[in-house]
Amino acid sequence: MNHTPHTPLRTVATVAIVGRGRLGRAIARALEAAGLRVFGPLGRGEVVPLADIVLLCVPDAEIAGAAAALADRADHPGLVGHVSGATPITGVDFGLHPLQTFTGDEGPEAFHGIGCAIAGRTPEALDVAAHLAELLGTRPFPLADEDRASYHAAASVASNFVVTLLAAAEQLAATAGLTGADARALLAPLVRTTVENWAARGAGSALTGPVARGDVQTVGRQRDAVTTNAPDLLPLFDELVTSTRALSEKGRTAA
Ligand SMILES: NC(=O)c1ccc[n+]([C@@H]2O[C@H](COP(=O)([O-])OP(=O)(O)OC[C@H]3O[C@@H](n4cnc5c(N)ncnc54)[C@H](OP(=O)(O)O)[C@@H]3O)[C@@H](O)[C@H]2O)c1
Repeated sequence: MNHTPHTPLRTVATVAIVGRGRLGRAIARALEAAGLRVFGPLGRGEVVPLADIVLLCVPDAEIAGAAAALADRADHPGLVGHVSGATPITGVDFGLHPLQTFTGDEGPEAFHGIGCAIAGRTPEALDVAAHLAELLGTRPFPLADEDRASYHAAASVASNFVVTLLAAAEQLAATAGLTGADARALLAPLVRTTVENWAARGAGSALTGPVARGDVQTVGRQRDAVTTNAPDLLPLFDELVTSTRALSEKGRTAA
């Protein structure tokens, strides 16, 4: 990826952040630290001051309405962008999606080195998105509207669904007598190493355990325990065994 700093086609000195939720608060802090004059984050109903850029950090379903309200104004509020990964840039000038999960309390360093999907309806708007991404210290990459749904599904699987799996692991660990805090502390190193192995080598090489070893008996004993102790998890367990077996077989075929 090319990170050569460039002079933006349009002056970007001020930015109004609309939406004071999780990402709105974090990105306002980070853009201020990067040297921009930041208005907001602004709450619902607050007047958006004139700024070079308006960044909509509102839920996806609210983006169209918020953008339309700005477009209706007689004074021109500057280029308007959103920070959604899933939403097309129809109705706004640019998109800037930081590929990270934010709770709102993060400092500017939370943006450093993360991926950031950018898009623009004009070369100038794309350039502004790239400039903001650079100011945040992210690694920008282009994202076309037609690819957004798949891209965002990948992000949801990698983040949200991993949390769902970890909650299932915690539930099973509880049936083995571990408190939630103990289960998280004991399983976290395993999770981190697994993720690091996947990141460094890919899924096929990162996969270990009874399914990968073809140890049908152990998988069967696990399944019995799930059936007895956490029957609500059985469909998920069975789906994961099926998918893990397919991944393992794919790896063997490729080897
Ligand atoms: N959080 C993340 O990890 C993350 C990561 C990447 C991208 N994003 C994107 O960031 C955007 C916001 O997500 P979020 O997680 O920050 O959501 P959030 O925590 O729910 O915050 C959304 C905020 O927008 C406010 N809001 C809604 N409509 C508004 C309007 N018309 N004018 C002003 N404020 C309005 C909400 O106020 P009320 O409480 O009054 O409704 C709320 O404070 C989404 O597009 C999301 O895809 C989030």
